[in-house]
Amino acid sequence: MAEVTLSNVRKSYGAVDIIHGIDLGITDGEFVVLVGPSGCGKSTLLRMVAGLETITGGEVRIGGRVVNDLDPKDRDIAMVFQNYALYPHMTVATNMGFSLEHRGGSNAEIAERVKWAADILGLAPLLDRYPRQLSGGQRQRVAMGRAIVRDPKVFLFDEPLSNLDAKLRVVMRGEIKSLHQRLKTTTIYVTHDQVEAMTMADKIVVLNGGRVEQIGAPLDLYDRPANQFVAGFIGSPSMNFLNGTITPEGFSAPGILLPLPEAEHGHKDRKAVYGIRPEHFFLDENGVPAEIILVEPMGSETQVTMKLGETLATGVFRERVSLSPGATIRVRPDLGNIHLFAADGGQRLN
Ligand SMILES: Nc1ncnc2c1ncn2[C@@H]1O[C@H](COP(=O)(O)OP(=O)(O)OP(=O)(O)O)[C@@H](O)[C@H]1O
Ligand SMILES: [Mg+2]
Repeated sequence: MAEVTLSNVRKSYGAVDIIHGIDLGITDGEFVVLVGPSGCGKSTLLRMVAGLETITGGEVRIGGRVVNDLDPKDRDIAMVFQNYALYPHMTVATNMGFSLEHRGGSNAEIAERVKWAADILGLAPLLDRYPRQLSGGQRQRVAMGRAIVRDPKVFLFDEPLSNLDAKLRVVMRGEIKSLHQRLKTTTIYVTHDQVEAMTMADKIVVLNGGRVEQIGAPLDLYDRPANQFVAGFIGSPSMNFLNGTITPEGFSAPGILLPLPEAEHGHKDRKAVYGIRPEHFFLDENGVPAEIILVEPMGSETQVTMKLGETLATGVFRERVSLSPGATIRVRPDLGNIHLFAADGGQRLN
């Protein structure tokens, strides 16, 4: 096991800068998730840690040792990719043991190691099968088996579940998490699925355009996003944003005046963005009017698309809302859960 430290890590392809200087400390045994929109540099960063991409600037340390110029095989890491390409002509057991053969262990040692990994992953009954005889989830498990037999210091995962259907993804998500709880191997996990990020991570790193937007525990990012980008990226359905002005009376958005906590009332008007998550509206006859656009009953809750003044917003209510589009409900924003961001630059104001 090992800690991983990135100091001012940069990457350029020719004249194009992709990663703009990233600092990140990962403690021994930590499960860190990198999230961010497509093209923000998640895979590039992971591949630099793995040694599959050169590092243009800065330093990557694994277990205290600078690895910038080390070959991937000398870094003591194991990587699981989105396309977990198994060797089709090899059985599950051979696929899992293959990487150990290069290390020169005896056949008995390799077999024992493969059996250990197969037991952990529930693959023991499948060891003699070929990849074509496995389901998608089983193949993904073999790919993880290939990684854990080597007992690496660090696991790197690049969107390992994105080829699986929704249901299997949820199952495998749980399996990877319990595998980590069992092995406690330092893990860097890339995904753009923010539910995966929330549920798996000890620490989330939100990337955007090759820069870190925020690093923190999942619920800290959820409860106190540092800026509008993180606020909009973490959470599903997304946080609602209304552009407007902080005034002495409250927050004035086009066609509506929204309540603000007393402390946030401005003495003079200030342009800002009002952020509120869908679950932080309550149905309340003394609330502000909202015209219903769409009602989506999910059983446990009801998702309502509504118009607050001139802005479309989403509300999620525990109560069943049976009104039709065109009707007006009254909703009250939870004053303890209002986020204010600068209109210019999106930094958190409160
Ligand atoms: N070999 C390359 N040459 C030039 N540009 C590249 C190369 N590889 C990646 N890039 C660029 O680097 C940026 C980051 O790519 P990267 O694959 O790291 O993104 P990502 O965050 O993993 O995206 P996704 O979520 O789509 O997988 C992209 O703009 C991409 O076009
Ligand atoms: Mg990628």
